[in-house]
Amino acid sequence: MCGIIGITSSKPVSSSILHSLKKLEYRGYDSAGIATIDNGIINEIKSLGRVDVLEKNISQINLSGEVGIGHVRWATHGIPSTINAHPHSNENISVVHNGIIENSVILKKSLINKGHKFKSETDTEVIVHLLSEYLKSNELNNAIIKTLNDLDGSFALGIIFKDMPNIIVGARRGSPLAVGYGPNENYLGSDSYALKSMTNKITYLNDGEFCIIKKDEINFYDYMGNKVNKKILQLSTNEQNYEKGEYKHFMAKEINEQPLTIKNCVNEYIDKINNEINLHNFPWKKENIKSIKLIGCGTAFHSCLIGKYWFEELTNIDVDIDIASEFRYRKNRFKEDCLYIFVSQSGETADTYAALDLCKKNKMKTCSIVNVVESSIARDSDFVLPIHCGPEIGVASTKAFLGQMMVIYLLCLKISYLKNNIKKSDYNKKIKNLDLLSEKVKKTIFDENQIQTISNTFSKAKGSMFLGRGFSFPIALEGALKLKELAYIHAEGYPAGEMKHGPLALIEDGMPVVVVAPKDQYYKKTISNMQEVIARGAKVLLVTNKDDDQIVSENIWKKIEIDTVEKDLYPFLTTLPLQQLAYYTALKKGFDIDKPRNLAKSVTVE
Ligand code: AGP
Repeated sequence: MCGIIGITSSKPVSSSILHSLKKLEYRGYDSAGIATIDNGIINEIKSLGRVDVLEKNISQINLSGEVGIGHVRWATHGIPSTINAHPHSNENISVVHNGIIENSVILKKSLINKGHKFKSETDTEVIVHLLSEYLKSNELNNAIIKTLNDLDGSFALGIIFKDMPNIIVGARRGSPLAVGYGPNENYLGSDSYALKSMTNKITYLNDGEFCIIKKDEINFYDYMGNKVNKKILQLSTNEQNYEKGEYKHFMAKEINEQPLTIKNCVNEYIDKINNEINLHNFPWKKENIKSIKLIGCGTAFHSCLIGKYWFEELTNIDVDIDIASEFRYRKNRFKEDCLYIFVSQSGETADTYAALDLCKKNKMKTCSIVNVVESSIARDSDFVLPIHCGPEIGVASTKAFLGQMMVIYLLCLKISYLKNNIKKSDYNKKIKNLDLLSEKVKKTIFDENQIQTISNTFSKAKGSMFLGRGFSFPIALEGALKLKELAYIHAEGYPAGEMKHGPLALIEDGMPVVVVAPKDQYYKKTISNMQEVIARGAKVLLVTNKDDDQIVSENIWKKIEIDTVEKDLYPFLTTLPLQQLAYYTALKKGFDIDKPRNLAKSVTVE
């Protein structure tokens, strides 16, 4: 995947651009380059291979200039080479680009007929000459609008100008682009990772928008040139977020950052104009993926299990899951048309890394879904899908779980659509539903008193069961894991339909049992399983929708009500009260919330 960075400042920018390009190395690339404007000259340096090679080349000259753009390129049009590396420049402007210009051949022909000379084989270079052409007879904004209107395909652009040395233009259609706000300097980046080392204040461009960035102001415009006002997001991604802020614990902060996690994923992966999911140069053709295997540990494994249900529900491809510590020693039958997906918040879990290494040794396709893009698992997999939830400090994973589920769901939807397993109308509807999910998550994070009474009872319990069917079964497992690892109470997640095959013997009078039963296709069956445990004395906490079913209501001990959403999306809501239940139970018991006994945030040993 390509990566973009741009900086306009009151001080030289080349070293900051290089530093940010290193943050983008996770995206996978084959060349890199920088261009700055200094004393009315465009200075362009490009190199094949790693950013370190570029850095070495730059160190041999003094690359000055207080405005510049940088790029790491993953070749699409034109072989990996220095000449095809970005930026692409002529004597007036310099451009970096993510995406594909689908009508570049036609545009190139007409520009050559007008006398333009091309140096590279890339689609990107047509933008340089097209914009130069329009600038001959239009002021800047109109020239930008005309240029963008002529382009078919997807792009995120960064552009600098010899004659306007204090600005950077950014434009987005189908490929994410964000701006960042700094002290007497401002930034452009292809994702939050590009910007996080310099700022945590960012604004995402929407598709069709462009912006003009100066060191002390940024203006946004829609595709017709009308000015638009945009919100500045406070990203939980830079050093300041290693603080708890007004929260008592990192876990409390991270529970409350979950709406932003959803929003970040929507901004980074959804192209709202074309109502498309953009997986940024997903490197495999759909026909080469006949099956998928999701692998992880702990909470990450639970997101894999939910992924299995989504893939079974929405696609026709075979999907399997495995716990990494089991997979790595199993007598695996490796299949070359299988995509092996490794889910890991830290990207350093030893078992998950060993499973990845085993697949690479067998020349399998590997993709990682991680939060730390500089991690070993990310660096060593063929393709990375970040979950964009910012640093997760609390050992008990919360926002990373939601981020993992979100990225797995987006991947599942995209593959379902590519394989024609889902109608375009349903695909579009599901994408639109994701736009509303952040607000739904926010509404489902309850305040303390709604959960505290319940957690008081759990704090005295000897043990508990968490039951669910279908999508709610992994949520039951995750809820039980949270109670175990935070409140040190034995809790077991179980498929609700399995209780009568043995575990029902565990139920005794007054035992708290959590039943996860949103109004999905499994609701009625789960409610009847719930009656089985109530009949044997269990105190049931039911997590369900706002309910008018009296029979259900009079029998249960407590109910937590969630909003109605599309059935696929219930896991994003039902997991939230279970996180808070574990949090407040551990708080009641006076345990160390952020560093539970015996546990580490990243299990880097076997
Ligand atoms: C979850 O609350 C735990 N901290 C633990 O199960 C964790 O999910 C597991 O160790 C995997 O970690 P990873 O996502 O960093 O690979």
